[in-house]
Amino acid sequence: MSNIAEEIKKRRTFAIISHPDAGKTTLTEKFLLYGGAINLAGTVKGRKAAKHAVSDWMEIEKERGISVTSSVMQFEYDGYCINILDTPGHQDFSEDTYRTLMAADSAVMVIDGSKGVEAQTIKLFKVCVMRRIPIFTFINKMDREARDPFELMDEIENVLGIRTCPINWPIGCGKNFKGVYDRHDKTITTFTAAMGGQKEVATQTFDVEGADVDSVIGVDYHQQLLDEIELLDGAADEFDMDRVSRGNLSPVFFGSALTNFGVETFLKHFLKMTTSPLPRRTTTGIIDPFEEKFSAFVFKIQANMNKAHRDRIAFMRIVSGKFEAGMEVNHVQGGKKLRLTQPQQMMAQDRKIVDEAYAGDIIGVFDPGIFSIGDTLCLSNEKFQFEGIPTFAPEHFARVRQIDTMKRKQFLKGVSQIAQEGAIQIFQEFNTGMEEIIVGVVGELQFEVLTYRLENEYNVEVKLEKLPYEYIRWIENKEEIDVSRIQGTSDMKRIKDLKDNPLLLFVNSWSVGMVEERNPGLKLSEFGRD
Ligand code: G4P
Repeated sequence: MSNIAEEIKKRRTFAIISHPDAGKTTLTEKFLLYGGAINLAGTVKGRKAAKHAVSDWMEIEKERGISVTSSVMQFEYDGYCINILDTPGHQDFSEDTYRTLMAADSAVMVIDGSKGVEAQTIKLFKVCVMRRIPIFTFINKMDREARDPFELMDEIENVLGIRTCPINWPIGCGKNFKGVYDRHDKTITTFTAAMGGQKEVATQTFDVEGADVDSVIGVDYHQQLLDEIELLDGAADEFDMDRVSRGNLSPVFFGSALTNFGVETFLKHFLKMTTSPLPRRTTTGIIDPFEEKFSAFVFKIQANMNKAHRDRIAFMRIVSGKFEAGMEVNHVQGGKKLRLTQPQQMMAQDRKIVDEAYAGDIIGVFDPGIFSIGDTLCLSNEKFQFEGIPTFAPEHFARVRQIDTMKRKQFLKGVSQIAQEGAIQIFQEFNTGMEEIIVGVVGELQFEVLTYRLENEYNVEVKLEKLPYEYIRWIENKEEIDVSRIQGTSDMKRIKDLKDNPLLLFVNSWSVGMVEERNPGLKLSEFGRD
């Protein structure tokens, strides 16, 4: 096998999705710890500082209210080269959070064992399903009181609509958390909390049939476990690698990220089960990652990393082959050849300039304002385009007006550029021109970012009037539909995007179903595609 193929084969590029506070940051840190990418010496306080450094490393951006970064952390573990894509959460949840998933080959879903499936997980999960990527579940915080594991399985299956296959099974929880049972090896690993969660735990493993189990986990827990194993073996889906790869079956693991329990086992299994870089569809067929010719697509644009220069960084996912600094590539959508100089890569805390990168990796390149989300880069004599990145449904809408009418031009330039970066989406009234602008965002923080940036970068003060709509739908079969004749509901509004695509806004979710019912033949979609 060539060196390039070997490099690609060992890559694993995945995103961790979760609802805020489920333990995504903690789990990421533990992965980095095992990979030796960070060194968490010290106490919990040290952990906090490290957490800050790792996941919130763009502190300057944050101070300015522009924390819209999904960073990538690369490290090596057990012969694999791992790229973790960090999906921004909390207040900076934005369209970038969704787009990050377009660059991943699989997803790890972290669920808080006491809470189960939560709102943000559902949203992110839908994007994974759309991409049909494998989804692995880590049920976290088993050292705390947790819900019944069968109930959690049911909830994942019913709410998310994916079948589950527990790889291990918890024995008790909270104060009575005894450990986990490995269904394949038929062994029990007892729970020991690592000191302050800093070090690897020294676990002990017992044969479930062994005589000493009763004394380790207690007679009652042992009996309960045997009953549950019987139930699981009878009722749970069997592990089936094909179904996992197609995203139809999620392997489930239980553990406690904070105390390091079950984290390394999870990582080991996960790396074996998940996929090396996946092929991607283009206008002319499928591009295999192992093709030696370089190709990549832009999935994220980060504005103004350096305010003095008003520059942007375009993040691209390498789809095939090897990237070398300074190489000449064809920017297909721009119709130009260019040299990618000074490519950057994120390595845990640091950003560094890289000389080479391979399919599966993410690099950031300087963007003088030429790239758009979804653009293709390939070797200079080629011309295909990767399948576009869909536009994700904003959930907050506002009418935006510039206060000084003389600054119309700057205003339009500002909102258009910010929209091109993918931070906001802009719409117009359905029947009028550009005079009224409606902005849609996935996370409300983006409104603040917009106001701030228009004022600071474009010198335009604006007034935002929030609108009550929360649901947007693209009309999939727009060619067949006369939009003005759609039988609407009283809370429905017709709008269009800058490419004149018609869209519908709704205040209530049930109105969406109502409008579909009233207009047979109308096909609505939660994702926008060009
Ligand atoms: P997030 O990135 O998904 O938002 O979650 P994060 O890792 O920041 O974890 C949220 C809180 O849950 C943190 O507590 C963290 O310590 C705690 N946590 C994570 N994993 C576990 C676990 O396995 N068991 C228990 N008991 N707690 C866990 P915090 O008090 O908000 O922050 P900190 O003071 O610990 O930094």
